[in-house]
Amino acid sequence: MFKLPELPYVFDALEPYIDARTMEIHYTGHHAAYVKNLNDTLKDYPELQDKSLTDLLCDLNALPEKIRTSVRNNAGGDYNHTFFWPLMTKNAVLGPLEKSAQGINKTFGSFEQFQKQFNDAAKSRFGSGWAWLVVNKQSNLEVTSTANQDCPISQGQEPILGLDVWEHAYYLKYQNKRVDYIQAWWHVVNWQQVEDNFRKVC
Ligand SMILES: [Fe+2]
Repeated sequence: MFKLPELPYVFDALEPYIDARTMEIHYTGHHAAYVKNLNDTLKDYPELQDKSLTDLLCDLNALPEKIRTSVRNNAGGDYNHTFFWPLMTKNAVLGPLEKSAQGINKTFGSFEQFQKQFNDAAKSRFGSGWAWLVVNKQSNLEVTSTANQDCPISQGQEPILGLDVWEHAYYLKYQNKRVDYIQAWWHVVNWQQVEDNFRKVC
């Protein structure tokens, strides 16, 4: 059965950019619920309980139709949040490192150009969802976004960086000002984790 992974820092570690109360509710409320709901969904499917989140999400069409949407939402929610937490740190440096920096510059022209595209993706995602930097099927870096808890790996893409733009990620502190949340979030991006994610794929 799936377990809630440990948060790699305490709830107030990312203050003032991400407040402690939001972090606590996001992790113990929202992320934990995805894990619980995924386990509930799979309770009558023992053959699926040993699979990894990646196995489940990479081939959604292979799942029984009755549970496909629930797995898509809840395995997606678990995967995306498990991926998201280590992408933030209180000891943030201010931009990409080494190989990922080269890749970003090559694809987007500059870090600032990349950041603008990513901000646009995060701002313009209607309703709930995520903004992503992925390595696409052609092995190129690309900025994308997904709705709800849809996951890039279900579309054959490898996520490198992701930002949760569900209201549950920011509403307590930033209310309706998603743009302010996006701007604040850049202060806590863990570029070492981005570098590690990039090196795993490229
Ligand atoms: Fe979230």
